Amino acid sequence: MPKPLLAVIVGSNRKDSINRKLAQAMIKLGADKFDAKIVRIDDLPMYNQDHENDLPPEVVRFKNDIARADGVLIVTPEHDRSIPAVLKNAVDWGARPWGKNSWAGKPGFITGTSPGAIGSALAQHHLRSVMTGLGMILLGGEAYVTFKPNLADDHGNIGDENTRKFLQDFIERFAFLVGRLRSEPARSAA
Ligand SMILES: Cc1cc2nc3c(=O)[nH]c(=O)nc-3n(C[C@H](O)[C@H](O)[C@H](O)COP(=O)(O)O)c2cc1C
Repeated sequence: MPKPLLAVIVGSNRKDSINRKLAQAMIKLGADKFDAKIVRIDDLPMYNQDHENDLPPEVVRFKNDIARADGVLIVTPEHDRSIPAVLKNAVDWGARPWGKNSWAGKPGFITGTSPGAIGSALAQHHLRSVMTGLGMILLGGEAYVTFKPNLADDHGNIGDENTRKFLQDFIERFAFLVGRLRSEPARSAA
C-alpha cells in the first residue's frame, strides 16, 4: 500500500514565509510516513457565491488536491489575532458549494509559527473552530511554535532539538490518525 498522501496548506502568500519553511520541515520530519504535496492557495480568486455553479479552474484544482489527499496539514501564521485572509478564502472555497464540502471527514493537523510569544495560537484556535464546524477530524493538542531564526533552514532542518522532538511527536500521532481513518473512512459530516 502506498504511503498516505498529505495535502499541505501554508496560510501565507509571502515569498519568504516562515510558515512555508516550517511546513517544509514538517514534510521532512514525516517523510517516512507520508507523501506530501504543498497545495497552492495564493492564486485562488476571492470567494464569490456567484461563481459556485461554474467554479474557476484554480478552485477546481484546489478542491481536487484536497479530495485526493488522505490528510491535510495546515501551517499558518496569525494575522491580526486571527486566520490570514488568504487561508480563510481557501477554507471558504473548500467548503462550497453546498454538498461539495472538501473538508468533511478529512483528518487535519493545524500548526503554525509567528515571532510573537504565543506562536500563532489565536489564529490556530479560530481555525480549529472553523474546521471543526466544517466536519474535519482534527488532531488534538496545541502545536504553537514561537519563531526563532534557527527554527528551520532552507533544507527543511529544524535547528532546536526540543522543537524537533515536539513536532515529531505530532507528526507520529497524525500518521496514526490518518492511518486509522484511511482503513475505515469517516462518514461525511456535510
Ligand atoms: C497583516 C499582518 C498581521 C499580523 N498580525 C499578527 C498577529 O496577530 N500575531 C502575530 O503573532 N503576528 C502577527 N503578524 C506578524 C506575522 O507573524 C509575521 O509577519 C510572520 O512572518 C507571518 O508569517 P509568514 O512569514 O509565514 O507569512 C502580522 C503580520 C501581518 C502582515
